[in-house]
Amino acid sequence: MRELTAAADLRAFVREARGAGRRLALVPTMGFLHEGHLALVDAARRAADAVVMSVFVNPLQFGPGEDLDRYPRDLARDRALARGRGVDALFVPAAAEMYRPGADTRVVPGAAAERWEGAARPGHFTGVLTVVTKLLHLAEPDVVCFGQKDIQQAILVRRMLRDLDWPVELVLVPTVREPDGLALSSRNVYLDAAARARAGSLSRGLRAAEAAFRAGARSAAALEAAVRRELAAAPGVEADYIAVAEPDAMQPVAEARDGTIVAVAARIGRTRLIDNVILREGAG
Ligand code: PAF
Repeated sequence: MRELTAAADLRAFVREARGAGRRLALVPTMGFLHEGHLALVDAARRAADAVVMSVFVNPLQFGPGEDLDRYPRDLARDRALARGRGVDALFVPAAAEMYRPGADTRVVPGAAAERWEGAARPGHFTGVLTVVTKLLHLAEPDVVCFGQKDIQQAILVRRMLRDLDWPVELVLVPTVREPDGLALSSRNVYLDAAARARAGSLSRGLRAAEAAFRAGARSAAALEAAVRRELAAAPGVEADYIAVAEPDAMQPVAEARDGTIVAVAARIGRTRLIDNVILREGAG
């Protein structure tokens, strides 16, 4: 595995890989890797001949008062995990490499960013789309892999690719979960024992919504109530939003159908967790 810190070196790697006729996949991450990230690498390897993973804690996507300074980092561990899973190039730029002094251009999403995470974290998705755009330009991949856990992010990137006629395929990779259903997230390290015990309520709520959908419930209100009941049963879990939304632009729907997303954000103490499911007709 090559480790690269300079944009020019990544470009050289890409040129070489392309010259050898290799199909490229990009896995963008903020590091502190877990099995969820490594599932992205597995998907990338299935879709391409060479995998570039970026590790960059992107300051532009953190709002004031968010956890930029305490965001967990462990490059030595990330390096070992990435190498072990077959990453070909690990791109670890410094902030000054990604944002040169005076850099002032932003990639701003449209209406699909207005609700849910976009409303809770103003400017977040502008930061995400700006850095993803830069990474896509540097790595010029055929395929980019995103996790379903950050579903609104994946939808916004997919829309950006479509809106800008950008010939990169987005592969959405299912969320990897702990045995009690908690979605893997680098931020789970913030949970103390009491908070961790309650954190399973998000996925329990989503499973309850799935079960209600399978049993015939279609109204968004009923599905939302199924999630809310599970959150309410866990003391100290405060719902931020429960979304029942269509998968193209994350707009709310009154009636769910195949492909509808149920997404939840909740606070447990100082930690904010998100999770979602995609409802499927006839899924067992
Ligand atoms: O999902 C993440 O880890 C980040 O938002 C991403 C896509 C790497 C951009 O910084």
